[in-house]
Amino acid sequence: MKLAVVGAGSMGAQIAQQAALNGIDVALHDEDEAQLRKAVDSNRGHLSRRVEKGRLAPGDAETAISRVHVMTDLSQAVADADFVIEAVFEDVDVKRAIFAELDHIAAPAAVLASNSSTIGISQLASATTRPARCVNMHFFYPVLVMDLVEIVRGPHTSDETVEAALKLARAMGRTAVVLNKEIDGFIVNRILHAATQEAYRLLDAGVATFEDIDTAVEKGLNWPMGPFRLGDFSGLDVTYNARLHMFRVTGDERYRPSPLLEAKVKAGKLGRKTGEGWYRY
Ligand SMILES: NC(=O)c1ccc[n+]([C@@H]2O[C@H](COP(=O)([O-])OP(=O)(O)OC[C@H]3O[C@@H](n4cnc5c(N)ncnc54)[C@H](O)[C@@H]3O)[C@@H](O)[C@H]2O)c1
Repeated sequence: MKLAVVGAGSMGAQIAQQAALNGIDVALHDEDEAQLRKAVDSNRGHLSRRVEKGRLAPGDAETAISRVHVMTDLSQAVADADFVIEAVFEDVDVKRAIFAELDHIAAPAAVLASNSSTIGISQLASATTRPARCVNMHFFYPVLVMDLVEIVRGPHTSDETVEAALKLARAMGRTAVVLNKEIDGFIVNRILHAATQEAYRLLDAGVATFEDIDTAVEKGLNWPMGPFRLGDFSGLDVTYNARLHMFRVTGDERYRPSPLLEAKVKAGKLGRKTGEGWYRY
């Protein structure tokens, strides 16, 4: 089994490393050489910490790092791949161009998967001549830690392609679920958005403070982080844009972003990364 990963950002770098940790040879491509160096350094850092904690043998860490072959030449990266996972910027035109190119240069039997969180595979598969071999394979950040993969079939995805994606996810040591319909937000973000939206409604209505809503969710539902703490962790701009996207796509008032959330984003208080969001850091 040979895997190629296209895009070596926060997701692609760790998707490649997770596969390599499980014995899979990976070609990791990015158009930006600096991103490839950053990906290798960052993965080395993660694996070194596992070695320090005694959770990974030093030799196994080195082997896993050497199984990720970085390259800026896309044709070389996908030449002998059975499976390609695309993880470039969340831009449909960029992704469609890549899918069209992959269709030309990858083996005709290779599966083309996208890690996109919001772009359904049908929008990318239509740029190829192999829509039956295209599928969404949605990993979660940070991939080296988060166990789940959502496999989402488009209207043309074949059973064999879903099977191949399931097999790969399992070979990578991950738990996979299959969505038989292409829906916005897939399962996890759909449920997360609904719960978060309800938390914002309670805040907007003055029912409780954001701290108390977080405490209620953490202690009463056993979530590791309440919705406001989680928003600060992921970036309030990410939460806001996800909401705005769902609102625009569905036109459903239930998804309209909270005015209090919008105010935070407009004030540049985006969470941990800016030193302040709902909480101060
Ligand atoms: N970050 C998350 O939490 C998360 C979670 C699940 C899924 N995703 C999805 O993963 C994908 C990547 O997200 P990310 O956070 O890793 O992005 P990122 O910005 O960290 O990385 C994107 C990478 O793609 C590269 N790239 C852009 N255009 C390219 C091209 N034409 N050819 C080759 N490389 C190219 C960039 O150089 C960059 O290294 C997106 O589709 C996103 O929806 C992200």
